[in-house]
Formats: sequence, structure tokens, C-alpha cells
Amino acid sequence: MEKIKVFCPATIANVSCGFDVLGLALDSVGDEMTVRKTADKGIRISKIIGQDLPMEAEKNVAGVAGLALLAKSDYDGGFEIEIDKRIKPGSGIGSSAASSTGAVWAMNELLGNPFSKLELVQFAMEGEKLASDVAHADNVAPAIYGGFTLVRSYEPLDIIPIPTPSELYATVIHPQIEIKTSDSRKILKTTISMQQGIQQWGNLGGLVAGLFQNDYDLIGRSLHDHIVEPIRSILIPAFDDIKANALKAGALGSGISGSGPSIFALSKGEETAKQVAESMKKTYQNIAVDFDIHISKVNSQGVKKIA
Ligand code: HSE
Repeated sequence: MEKIKVFCPATIANVSCGFDVLGLALDSVGDEMTVRKTADKGIRISKIIGQDLPMEAEKNVAGVAGLALLAKSDYDGGFEIEIDKRIKPGSGIGSSAASSTGAVWAMNELLGNPFSKLELVQFAMEGEKLASDVAHADNVAPAIYGGFTLVRSYEPLDIIPIPTPSELYATVIHPQIEIKTSDSRKILKTTISMQQGIQQWGNLGGLVAGLFQNDYDLIGRSLHDHIVEPIRSILIPAFDDIKANALKAGALGSGISGSGPSIFALSKGEETAKQVAESMKKTYQNIAVDFDIHISKVNSQGVKKIA
């Protein structure tokens, strides 16, 4: 195989109680990328559709992730990459992670799969480092593994795939402002109290148990974030109203998607997810905030070949 086209899913990181460790992949939103083998060494970004992003490989997250893979490979050639960028940068649904994972997953396929999923996550994390100054894995891991993933440890990197209950749907609304992950990390405190820790790890354990047991009520009871959400939500238009109305419409829980400004809600069943979307839309229409909205099943496969 000389050429491959891949779908790279958007992702929701943190999922309220799992800052930097928990994430899930979406089914209906993502970038598309075409990657070709070239006789010339290195990475060449030949085309980017949809967004104005750097074409130099060293300044582009897909390029940097790809170069990290090449550095560990004995392949003698290089790759050319075309990116159809459908996820807006700074939206909070893993835009940089989609490009980084798409690049390394596609290259691995073209090379006959010499690298494991865990190694691909490590390469893609270099893209995250370029985008946000921190090599966090909570977007790239679900983009590669699909479903929910837990980063149990960063050193050494240990990714735990978590099963997804079949009726779990995500609704994500994106107010049309851009928040850079690097900026929204700078405003966080660097320490937490013991009481905050107890609440947070109780909820994280509860959420993981709920996912394993298909216990939607437990999932809902666990979707709380007492540490990051109170600080970051200040940057997001009408966050409290969107969340309150989503819960009223039947969502199991709601919170900030990644570093924002997107807001997510999880629901049992597509019908409820649609009602949640209606409530979110109305909330922004009433105060004239422009938005994109997505309803998606959790994507169980992660990045995949489409041509
Ligand atoms: N865990 C990261 C953060 C995700 O919240 O900063 C960024 O998408």
C-alpha cells in the first residue's frame, strides 16, 4: 500500500472528573487525512483544507508527530500528508489530537504496522506538546484506541481501554470562540486540597465503574468536576445555563469538553441526546451566541481507514 485516507475522530478529554487522564472518541465529527509514501525522506505537508495552519512539518502537529515516528523507524523514505481539517483548532474537541493521531496511524499502516497503539500514542503526544506545551494523552489515546480510555500513568505511559455502554451518546456544543489549551492551562491552580482530591477520585472511580457495569445512573452521579470546571467555565459563554438546561432535558451529566469552549453532555439513548441538543441550542439562540452542535455515539474504533 502506497497511499491511505483516514478518518481521525474528535475527542472529549477530561470527561469532567478525569483531568488529563480520561477521554472518549466521537463518531460523527473528525478530520480526514490522506498520507502517501514518498522516496524523499522526511514529512511534507502538501495541502491543508478548511483551516489556516502551518505547512512546515516542524510547526504542524501532524508533521511533528510523524517526525517522532520516523525517528524510531528504519524506513528509508518519507511521507506526504494532506489534511482536510474539519475540527476547528481551539474548539475543545481534540483538533490537534485528530491531526497527530491520523498522521501516525496512517504511516504505521503504510509501513505494515511495526508500532503498537501505545507507541503511536507516544508519537502523537509530541503533536500535543507542540499545540499546548504539555504532552497530555487524554485526547490522542481515545483517538487511537476508540471508546473511553484512561491514562493510568504517564511515566511509564499506561493506557487502559474502557468499555462503552451501547446506548451512551454525547452532545457537544461549540460556541464560536477559540480558547487555546495552553492559555486555559495557565489559569489553573497547581495544587488542590485533600477534600477536592477525595471528591474527584471518588467520582473518577465511580465513572469508570459505571462504564464497566453499564450503570447509567452511576455514570451520571459521577460526572462532576470540583477542581477545573469552576475555574475554566468563567471563559465560556453561559456555561452554567447550558449545563443546567442539558440536565433538565435529561442528560446524565454535562461539563467542559477538554479545555473548552465546547460543552459536552452524555445521555442514555439518541432521543435524549437530541433533546439535550435542542435545549443547548435554545440557550445560545436566546442570547445570540453562534455555535456548532454535534450529536454522536461514542466511537468504538478510533482512527480508521476510509479509502
Ligand atoms: N486535559 C487537557 C486539558 C485536554 O484539559 O488541558 C485538552 O484538550
